[in-house]
Amino acid sequence: MRKPFIAGNWKMNMNSATAVALAAGLAKELEDVDTVDIAVCPPSVYLQSVAAALSASNIAVGAQNVYFEGNGAFTGEISCDMLKDTGCSYVIIGHSERRHVIGETDELINKKIAAAINSGLLPIFCIGELLEERQAGKTNDVVADQVKKGLAGLCEERIQAITIAYEPVWAIGTGLTATPDQAQQVHGMIRGLLSELYNEDIAERIRIQYGGSAKPDNTSELMAQPDVDGLLVGGASLKVEDFSVMVKAVA
Ligand code: PGA
Repeated sequence: MRKPFIAGNWKMNMNSATAVALAAGLAKELEDVDTVDIAVCPPSVYLQSVAAALSASNIAVGAQNVYFEGNGAFTGEISCDMLKDTGCSYVIIGHSERRHVIGETDELINKKIAAAINSGLLPIFCIGELLEERQAGKTNDVVADQVKKGLAGLCEERIQAITIAYEPVWAIGTGLTATPDQAQQVHGMIRGLLSELYNEDIAERIRIQYGGSAKPDNTSELMAQPDVDGLLVGGASLKVEDFSVMVKAVA
């Protein structure tokens, strides 16, 4: 049985005061929840203060990005060990905004995933098709290709640290959500692929989140799908009330 996992991706939002206030508000609101894994992913400059605000809570902290090298002359980048040092346990890798706005490739994403797992971080590995790819009937091919390239070279033991987040690009931040059927179709395909690439036992254990305009209104119907194990929440994770309503609906 997979434990549901709801993560908030704060993206490039908040300041030092509002980040800590949001974290503290969630810690209070969600203190009784023990049937859902919960994480928030603030901007990296606020990781330490958010981790401190959540240190006595059931909410984990994740970063939104990482670099694969250990240290050295990589101006502007942050290593896995640095993230761990701030109190992170998770890291989002391959988010569509990093693929499409910043230009990250599958190969770079694969290196980041491997480095994160090697250092003991838990990657939230994001994949998803563009609207034109869906309209051209290529969703399964695009998503399967991203999964294969992102996980290339990862052995059975290391792969178990991963959460996969299926986030159709056309649904992110647009208010358009995949229907529960559309989400289930792709999640089921991904689980089948994991079974081929690894084995059925591993495929059954890996959690697959849905992301893309997930909100209080659609949480229950998305989570009712057999292969939807959690949510990666952007906009709705920025308000204590919305995010905690979603977590409680799942709990
Ligand atoms: P959204 O973002 O919930 O605002 O659509 C989700 C994400 O990008 O992770």
